Amino acid sequence: MKRITSTTLRVASAGLMVVSISTAVGAGLAQQAPVEIGVYSGRHYNTDKELYRQFTARTGIRVKVLESKDDAVIERLKSEGRNSPADVLVLVDAARLDIATDQGLFQPSRSAALERDVPANLRDSKGRWFGLTRRVRAVVVNPKLVNPATIRTYADLANPALKGKLCLRERKSPYNQSLVASQMILRGDATTRAWVRGMVANVKQPFFTSDTPLARAVARGECGVGVVNSYYVARMLSGAGGAEDKRLAEQVKIVYVNPSHVNISGAGVTRYAKNPQAAIKLIEFLASPTGGRGYAEANNEYPLRGVGNNPYLKGFGTFRADGVSVEQIGSRTKAATKMMETNGWK
Ligand SMILES: [Fe+2]
Repeated sequence: MKRITSTTLRVASAGLMVVSISTAVGAGLAQQAPVEIGVYSGRHYNTDKELYRQFTARTGIRVKVLESKDDAVIERLKSEGRNSPADVLVLVDAARLDIATDQGLFQPSRSAALERDVPANLRDSKGRWFGLTRRVRAVVVNPKLVNPATIRTYADLANPALKGKLCLRERKSPYNQSLVASQMILRGDATTRAWVRGMVANVKQPFFTSDTPLARAVARGECGVGVVNSYYVARMLSGAGGAEDKRLAEQVKIVYVNPSHVNISGAGVTRYAKNPQAAIKLIEFLASPTGGRGYAEANNEYPLRGVGNNPYLKGFGTFRADGVSVEQIGSRTKAATKMMETNGWK
């Protein structure tokens, strides 16, 4: 037993072969060998690892994690096919969950715990993925340039009074693809198209590559208003990004429009999981009120229900979720991206 453990550890440090090797050894030892699952995650926050450790302490199931950019983990899983050591795939945003689902990277699971803990609009109707945390697409305002009280809905961002003041992230960001998809579902294609055009006419060029630099530009007065996931500004306020980011974040106001677009990070059991039962146990733990709180707090996100205890998020006030199903959003992201492209969203 001791010899096998040390072999497993040595292979673990060498890379991703660990799951198949330890499973092969375990097969000869019946119940004795520890179960190990592989997790591929598009989230990369150190605090996630602490939760995986807690899960192992509770269940004895070991977790081997590979964290990378979402697109990279999707590509890796695809190219590994049935040889992949991944049992669980964690991704952020409806757009990416939809891509992974389309490519057949998940298998359906049934779980009474997940049906209880994950609201129906935050999981796939066929059980291929389940929401774990919620993130809100918010409006970040520089009050010296734009009166925050004039922003009550996303539609207000198309107001010609904001000409040259609006900053947006690039079209290829799944966050904005999902935002536009949610508006197509709620307000219809024609209204959404007019809204996109109105916003593009207000945009101060160029489009941003990510949310944090956009929030900084709003703070510095280079933009009056922008759209970001609120956890980015919460992270800046927390000081995790350094004193300068904290100072900048203190210059802006987060406005939650009503209703707000809510997206998720989510996870599912991979199509070729070697240990689907252990995999679903991990997802159940991460979605449970206990595990889920930690998973959300790690990135200044909201838990699946309620608002949690994050002081920075509390400072942003309350939001009313639009209630749109994440699965439906995912199914419209391609059409949304096309609409953005044909209407000038770079
Ligand atoms: Fe993000």
